[in-house]
Amino acid sequence: MLRYRVPTPAVVTLLLLQVIAMVLFVSWYGRIGQQDSPPSQRKVHVLLLSSWRSGSSFLGQVFSQHPSVFYLMEPAWHVWTVLRRPGARGLRMAVRDLVRSVFHCDLSVMDAYMPPNYNVSQVFMWSHSRALCSPPACPLTPRDQISEEPKCKLHCDTMGLQRAEEACHSYSHVVLKEVRFFELESLYPLLRDPSLDLRIIHLVRDPRAVMNSRDQAIKALVQDSALVLEQEGNMPPDGQLRVMQEICRSHVRIHETGNLKPPDFLRGRYRLVRYEDLVRDPLTAIKNIYDFVGLEMTENLEMWIYRITHGTGKGTRKDAFKITSRNAEDVSLAWRTSLPYTKVKQIQEVCKGAMTLLGYHLVESETEQKQLDLDLTARRQHHQFTWKVPSKSTGSAKAG
Ligand SMILES: *[C@@H]1O[C@H](CO)[C@@H](O)[C@H](O)[C@H]1NC(C)=O
Repeated sequence: MLRYRVPTPAVVTLLLLQVIAMVLFVSWYGRIGQQDSPPSQRKVHVLLLSSWRSGSSFLGQVFSQHPSVFYLMEPAWHVWTVLRRPGARGLRMAVRDLVRSVFHCDLSVMDAYMPPNYNVSQVFMWSHSRALCSPPACPLTPRDQISEEPKCKLHCDTMGLQRAEEACHSYSHVVLKEVRFFELESLYPLLRDPSLDLRIIHLVRDPRAVMNSRDQAIKALVQDSALVLEQEGNMPPDGQLRVMQEICRSHVRIHETGNLKPPDFLRGRYRLVRYEDLVRDPLTAIKNIYDFVGLEMTENLEMWIYRITHGTGKGTRKDAFKITSRNAEDVSLAWRTSLPYTKVKQIQEVCKGAMTLLGYHLVESETEQKQLDLDLTARRQHHQFTWKVPSKSTGSAKAG
């Protein structure tokens, strides 16, 4: 026998409390959801900033093969090849804006540099990006496997960049490799952008080794070199040396801005990596770099890194941009025996400042150059490079 009864005040209070609790919970939950929902808020953005022939394809692959990374190699190649005219300085804002859009996974920015109805295969070095060879971009390679570029090239072409964009959104890290920045100032708006969490890895290499490697790839670099020197037509006879001088100057500028006197929004977001340290002890160096950007090492990657740095191949002139399995440390010393001493002297002259700053000893004679047990790479003190970015949970809060 159910009879209607007026609820007691105690029951009313209880009900009210419950309603209040529920309202509070829903609004709190909603806010959490909102905070988490734009993927850009949780993403880490890494700019691998380097120069030609400095091992950036290798370090790029170290990111590209990571299962949490969406990687593109040199998207700004398109800016330089399509716009060309104004030279490096005039193009840097277009480069910067393209990089910003790609970090946000907005690949429509590529339309400006592509023919109508283009395929993903028209993106520069697209098949070197493991993410473009894995779901959802392509069914070929499971995300946690090492991808094989030639297979990817055969099987993963598609129309447009919709799937690439979808893929980009599905990763925690977007990593872009660029050799087309010569300063950091143009990146300040990206560093201040609360929806980006940008880390800059500045990869440098002994300029004498760079020169040696450039000599073997002159043809492949001739157009870029003209843009670096901001001139048209034929390279002047001392063109290579002048390009090296520009590159060395840019290393000084970037390192001074990033490490010696960084503005607040850059503090803790810049890390110098020397190629020589990378090949001397690849696993340790790469673990440190992963740590800096919040990536975990995996067993698969460890094995692959060992293989790729302990091979026997020499690396050929035919494909100047290919990374082959070879003994990385031997390769890094090749200039000691093959670069003429006269050239070594010229480079040391134009790059002295950068070499001193970055810890590369000058040689005083051909004998010193060829004496391979003489270590010309000064050990850096580790504490200079251990700044950490505040933990990811601080969301959009910037360091400093
Ligand atoms: C573009 O990709 C499709 C596969 O989705 C292929 O059938 C077509 O031939 C490609 N077009 C070009 C121009 O490569």
